[in-house]
Amino acid sequence: MSEEIRVKNTGLRGVTVADSAISFIDGEKGVLIYRGYRIEDLAKGSSFMETAYLLLYGTLPTSDQLVDFTQKVKQARQVPDFIFESMRQWPKEAKPMDVLQASIPLLAMAEEHNDFLDRPTCLNRAIGLIARMPTLVAGWHRIRNNQPILPPEPSLDHAANFLYMLQGKQPDAATAHDLDVCLILHADHTFNASTFAAREVVSTRASLYAGVSAGLGALSGSLHGGANAKVMEMLLRLENEPNVEAWVTEQLQQGQVIMGMGHAIYKTGDPRAVYLKKMGQRLGEQTGGKWAAISQKIEETALAIFARQGKTTILPNVDFNSAPVYYLMGIPTDLMTPIFAISRVAGWCAHIIEEQFADAQGKPALYRPQAQYVGEYCGPMGCEYSPAAKRK
Ligand SMILES: CC(C)(COP(=O)(O)OP(=O)(O)OC[C@H]1O[C@@H](n2cnc3c(N)ncnc32)[C@H](O)[C@@H]1OP(=O)(O)O)[C@@H](O)C(=O)NCCC(=O)NCCS
Repeated sequence: MSEEIRVKNTGLRGVTVADSAISFIDGEKGVLIYRGYRIEDLAKGSSFMETAYLLLYGTLPTSDQLVDFTQKVKQARQVPDFIFESMRQWPKEAKPMDVLQASIPLLAMAEEHNDFLDRPTCLNRAIGLIARMPTLVAGWHRIRNNQPILPPEPSLDHAANFLYMLQGKQPDAATAHDLDVCLILHADHTFNASTFAAREVVSTRASLYAGVSAGLGALSGSLHGGANAKVMEMLLRLENEPNVEAWVTEQLQQGQVIMGMGHAIYKTGDPRAVYLKKMGQRLGEQTGGKWAAISQKIEETALAIFARQGKTTILPNVDFNSAPVYYLMGIPTDLMTPIFAISRVAGWCAHIIEEQFADAQGKPALYRPQAQYVGEYCGPMGCEYSPAAKRK
C-alpha cells in the first residue's frame, strides 16, 4: 500500500445516528438539557444522586425514591478486595485513566452473570458502577502514594465521600457541594465520543462493563475528557510566565491548539463552562488563587486571535474552567479526567441501557457504518500477490 494515501474523516459531524431521550444540546443557543431539565436548574437545585437517577430512570425521583436510590449507591461503594490486591502489583506511575479503565473488567469478573441482561439487572449494575468508580479512583491514588486505603464513609454523600477517601479528611460542606455541582454538570452530553463508544460497544450485546470500559478509553484522550488535565498543565506552565499573551500567540502561530477551547457542537458558548467560570472565580477569591487571572489572559488573547482569523465560534469549553476548580479543591492534575469519569459514568450507563433495549423488540441495533475505500485497487480479483523474494 502506498504511504502517500491520505484519508479524510468527517468525525461524523452533523450525522444523526440514533434517537435518544436522554439529553439534548442546542449548540447555537448554548443550551444543555438532561431528560427535559436545563443544566443550570439542575446545578442550582439538584444533587448528583438525583441527577444520576434522572438520567437512569427518565424522571426526577420522589423523596422516597431518592432516599432509596442514594442508599443503594452507598451500599454498593465497596470494591472487591481482589481488585485492590491486584492494583498493588501495578506500576505506581501508571496513568489513573489506564488504571480506571483496567479496573472495570475486574468489576465485571466479580459478577456471577455478565451476559446481555434484563433492564432491572442492568440498572442495578449501573448503580454499582456509579457507586464504585470513586472508590477505585481514590483507592488507586492512595495505593500509588503508599497510603492505606480508606473504606467508604456511609454518613457522607457521593462527592464528600470521594474527597474523604482521596484526601483522608472530610471536606468542608462548601467544597463537597461544589464538587457535587461539577459532577452534575459533567454527567451527560448526548452522543459525545465516549458515549458513542460505549453505545457502539454494547450494540454488539457486549456487557455494561465492556461499554463503560470503552467509554473510559475514549474519554482519556486530550481532545475529549483528557483536556482538563492538559488545561491544568498549561496553567501551571504559565504560573510564572510574565508574558502569557506572547505565549498564547506563539502557540497559535505554531499551529497548536489551546486546550480547553473550542467545541464540536457549542458555537456560542458552553453553558457548563459559564457556570464553572463563576465557581472558579469565587474559589479563587476565597483562596487567593491566581488561576482566574491567567485563564482570563489566555481567553482574551486566544479569542482576539481567533476573531482576526474569523473563527468566532472557538470559545472556552467545560475543561477550560473545570481544571482550576479541581486544582483549588486539591485534586492532582492526573485525577481530573477520572473525576470527569466518576460523573459521566451515570450518562454512559443511561445511554448503554437505552442502546441495549433500543428497538421495539427490546434489542440493540448492531452499529455497522461503512467507509469509502481509497486504497489500492487492481480490479475485483485484487492485486496479484507475489512472494517477498520476488518483490522489487
Ligand atoms: C474540541 C475540538 C476537537 C472541536 O473541534 P471542531 O469543532 O471539530 O472544530 P475544528 O477542529 O473543525 O476546528 C475549526 C478550526 O478551529 C481551529 N480550532 C479549534 N479549536 C481550537 C483550539 N482550541 N485552539 C486553536 N485552534 C482551534 C481548528 O484548528 C480549525 O482551524 P482550521 O479551520 O484553520 O483548520 C477542538 O476545538 C479542539 O481541539 N479543542 C482543544 C481540545 C479540547 O479542549 N477538547 C475538549 C472539548 S470539550
